[in-house]
Amino acid sequence: METGTADFVVIANRLPVDRVLSPTGKTMWRTSPGGLVTALEPVMVRNGGAWIGWHGAADEDVEPFEHNGMHLVPVPLSEDEVAEYYEGFSNSTLWPLYHDVVAPPEFHREWWDSYVRVNRRFAEKAAAVAQQDAVVWVQDYQLQLVPSMLRELRPDLRIGFFLHIPFPPTELFQQLPWRRQILEGLLGADLVGFQMPGAAQNFVRLVRQRVGHKTHRDTIYLPDGRVVMAKAYPISIDAAGFEELARTPDVIARAAEIRESLGNPKTILLGIDRLDYTKGLRQRLRAFGELIADGSLHVDDAVFVQVATPSRERVQQYKLLRDDINRLVGRINGDVARIGQQPVTYLHASYPRAEMAALYRAADVMVVTPLRDGMNLVAKEYVACRYDDRGALVLSEFAGAASELKSAYQVNPHDINGMKSMMLAAINAGPRENGRRMKAMRKQVMENDIELWANNFLEELTSDRELHEKNPRPV
Ligand code: F6P
Repeated sequence: METGTADFVVIANRLPVDRVLSPTGKTMWRTSPGGLVTALEPVMVRNGGAWIGWHGAADEDVEPFEHNGMHLVPVPLSEDEVAEYYEGFSNSTLWPLYHDVVAPPEFHREWWDSYVRVNRRFAEKAAAVAQQDAVVWVQDYQLQLVPSMLRELRPDLRIGFFLHIPFPPTELFQQLPWRRQILEGLLGADLVGFQMPGAAQNFVRLVRQRVGHKTHRDTIYLPDGRVVMAKAYPISIDAAGFEELARTPDVIARAAEIRESLGNPKTILLGIDRLDYTKGLRQRLRAFGELIADGSLHVDDAVFVQVATPSRERVQQYKLLRDDINRLVGRINGDVARIGQQPVTYLHASYPRAEMAALYRAADVMVVTPLRDGMNLVAKEYVACRYDDRGALVLSEFAGAASELKSAYQVNPHDINGMKSMMLAAINAGPRENGRRMKAMRKQVMENDIELWANNFLEELTSDRELHEKNPRPV
């Protein structure tokens, strides 16, 4: 097959840009706020890199284009494919299955067929743009078949895969009717990265049990002599970028303004999440509501600000959640609010990074209590913004971040009483105690940023082995 010109190729469900309208009505692309593109953009620019992904609209062909020195290759999806591959198999089968079945996964054969078809389209695009011996990095659960499909088309490539969400325990994964195909899809990669060591171990065990390959620790031996590594690479954020933003006079002024408009309460608690049933919003709001109702917190003293960013709004479970949270917030406020003093401020909206940084700066207690989460970057963003060593983090032990942020007030989000006492502990601890905890967490976050994460992964992917010489690592 003919090769392309890109030395380094990223494949992700979405392109790293959002379409915006200029004041003159012209369509323009703006880099999305995510950390992944922040880390990979310099690598892409230095290596003539290409990014392959969906541009976010159905039934529309967009020509490849250049953006900030990156070659972007849009992958079209039809209306049916959005419903079956994206909302269906990716977000109503894999997403709940991989998150401990906190919502019931649905298994539909048409959704699987669509997933296979779309994965093949991504693989074909990558095969066409990658140069001989290029390095290709496939991202996340929407594209688990791409590594093997791409290897078949282009055996010369060095292929990495990273899963941003949890990889489930073997008992849950085995529910998937297409479990073997997914495992074999991932085995097309040379390196399969996970957030946590336990996830890598789950994968290796499943490969041994279900596919029958020999394994030793993090290494899988394929019958054709190829070797696949499975390892943990806990993802992070652009920590210095967040701190810098939090230090700007505009953000500091905005944080003060937020505090003022909430009535200058003693304590501001904050949650920022995508509106997703994995995030534990119900349990968290109930815990806070009970603290007010039982008199542990006074309505004049404490305010909970919950930002819930709209997400996957056509998927049934997300619609149900949205209604549930609306009702719950209404009930809490209805039961315990006083005129001019509302305990929960609920914002169903997305905000720019600067507004998030101002919220982080204003919050005395950040509450991050997912029922299951691959990592949770909000927890790390909060820590990065607290250069003053103030504030406290209440963190679910079921978020990947918990294994790094050991000085957080860790909670089991299913245990409402436990959460209530941890929230109170965080609120009532003095600045010395919270300062000590925050310092320790800041050291971890500032020293392990997204750039280091990307470098570690790419170093392992391109190190070694017999391909090393002809395939130097992107720098
Ligand atoms: O956490 C997984 C993830 O796919 C992220 O990569 C992404 O930013 C987020 O969920 C939002 O997902 P979607 O692309 O479905 O809006």
